[in-house]
Amino acid sequence: MESQKIILVAMTEDRLIGREGRIPWHIPEELQLFRELTVGHAVLMGRRTFESIGRPLPERRNIVLSRTLGPTPGVIVCVDLRKGLAEGAAHGSKTFIIGGRQVYREALPIADFMRISWISGHYAGDVYFPPFSLSDWEEIDSRDRTGFRHATYRRRNGDAKHPDHPPCSPDLR
Ligand SMILES: NC(=O)c1ccc[n+]([C@@H]2O[C@H](COP(=O)([O-])OP(=O)(O)OC[C@H]3O[C@@H](n4cnc5c(N)ncnc54)[C@H](OP(=O)(O)O)[C@@H]3O)[C@@H](O)[C@H]2O)c1
Repeated sequence: MESQKIILVAMTEDRLIGREGRIPWHIPEELQLFRELTVGHAVLMGRRTFESIGRPLPERRNIVLSRTLGPTPGVIVCVDLRKGLAEGAAHGSKTFIIGGRQVYREALPIADFMRISWISGHYAGDVYFPPFSLSDWEEIDSRDRTGFRHATYRRRNGDAKHPDHPPCSPDLR
């Protein structure tokens, strides 16, 4: 089975994701959810996000995209997204694309799912998730948590945009 490519992001309603190289909020339940979702899977991130986290995330295959970072203990450094995703797929069934903005922008057209923690309230910051159209995505799950709502989206494919077409050919017997 092909590996699922899942964008995982926490953002405000106006798509804010970062401030001065860090996350603008501290929401322990969101961090816990991030851990629960990603442990045992591959996490793919940009070099700046890796440096912001400051260490490889334990119990996950850490894949870092960079054209400048040398070999680094505990992580696989890849020079482009395609190679990074191949490393993720070789590891298992899910690759979580965990940011930052540059990596999200490149992954948006090819991700199968998005899991968005919609953070309540307003924060100051300087990095935003790239613009995207929610109409390209079907919301398949939503849970209210403390300080945020976590929603899961599946990319609408060509068939989903034409629901009149039956999914299978009719039984002509
Ligand atoms: N709210 C959230 O869920 C969330 C999640 C993650 C990050 N963030 C925030 O986002 C901000 C960082 O985002 P960012 O856009 O500045 O940085 P980033 O995407 O984390 O990292 C950018 C770097 O990754 C490398 N890179 C990106 N695409 C590449 C590609 N296709 N091939 C090879 N290398 C590639 C380059 O590294 P080199 O320069 O080394 O080549 C580039 O400079 C921080 O504020 C962070 O806290 C927020």
